[in-house]
Amino acid sequence: MDKILRRKKDHIALFQDMENLSQADAGFGRYRFEHNALPEIDYAEIDTSVNFLNHKLRLPLMISSITGGSNGERVNRTLAGIANDFGLGMAVGSQRIALEDRSWEDSFRIRRYAPNILLLANMGAVQLNYGYATDECRRIVDMIEADALVLHLNPLQEAFQADGNTNFSGLLKRIGKICASIEHPVIVKEIGYGISAPTAKKLQDVGVYGVDVGGAGSVSWSSLESQLSKDVVVKNASNAFRDWGNPTTDCIASIAKIKDKIKIIAGGGVKTGVDIAKSIALGADICSNAFDFLQKIMISYADCENFVETIALELKAAMLCIGCGNISELRSAKLLKVG
Ligand SMILES: Cc1cc2nc3c(=O)[nH]c(=O)nc-3n(C[C@H](O)[C@H](O)[C@H](O)COP(=O)(O)O)c2cc1C
Repeated sequence: MDKILRRKKDHIALFQDMENLSQADAGFGRYRFEHNALPEIDYAEIDTSVNFLNHKLRLPLMISSITGGSNGERVNRTLAGIANDFGLGMAVGSQRIALEDRSWEDSFRIRRYAPNILLLANMGAVQLNYGYATDECRRIVDMIEADALVLHLNPLQEAFQADGNTNFSGLLKRIGKICASIEHPVIVKEIGYGISAPTAKKLQDVGVYGVDVGGAGSVSWSSLESQLSKDVVVKNASNAFRDWGNPTTDCIASIAKIKDKIKIIAGGGVKTGVDIAKSIALGADICSNAFDFLQKIMISYADCENFVETIALELKAAMLCIGCGNISELRSAKLLKVG
């Protein structure tokens, strides 16, 4: 358990300096909106709110899973304040640590700071192959009074960890069992290499409510794990994966084509309000961001507030210049492919 705690601390410390570890591109530069010089709508009346999982979000955005445990309490509490103040959703980081040692539960309990936000629990899906099942999934949802459960998929990260949990066999069936047995919706996410349309289709067929595509374009976990490793083979091999993964925009567009009822969360390199507008027009229901929230919150609350206000302005300005008064109009806005 000490290992899980130390790894979380190391990740947070390294991520603060990470700008260029990933060579992958989320793909937003390959799309643009046709500018509308005569939008004939009132900027003041543009509505950026959206309903998701019975919550009204003021922006189609949630703070993605980051942390919990020793250094996570303060980060979670502060991010919960941001989510509460700006009407965003939020997912906590992996709660495995609190399943193994109850004394960490409090670091995830943020309902007291954000009583009405959309709040999501989190655990690695692969843990379903290492002894965890319905009871543990229920426990982490109840622990934080969550609205839904997020199970993350991270095969490449596990492959590069010295003690990685790398047995992903039969996982789809186990995920399906969780969907059928727990009382809350289940969302499955990647953490930076993307969920393809065929994978999303399989998840949809076993009852998954939504996918956070967690596409390439943000951080490189192979590079990060290699920085933490002392093993020269791990360090060498990780270089081959610096541009690995399905770009976020490809994930959204391809899943939107096969989508029956599964919801799409656009995550992985979604950094601006214009990226959010493009994600929605490509087929996403809402968007998520972890990396930038973490970087800003480690500087100050005010930096994080500025970040959200910037995103809100970018999204509203984009909607004005496309001529969309609300998010449902944005869903049918025309995107031009430029690359
Ligand atoms: C420091 C850090 C810790 C993370 N921890 C988790 C985690 O515990 N569980 C999880 O599902 N994703 C975790 N992620 C992945 C993010 O939630 C997100 O999917 C990924 O960073 C890609 O999105 P982004 O471009 O918005 O950062 C973490 C990301 C960062 C930066």
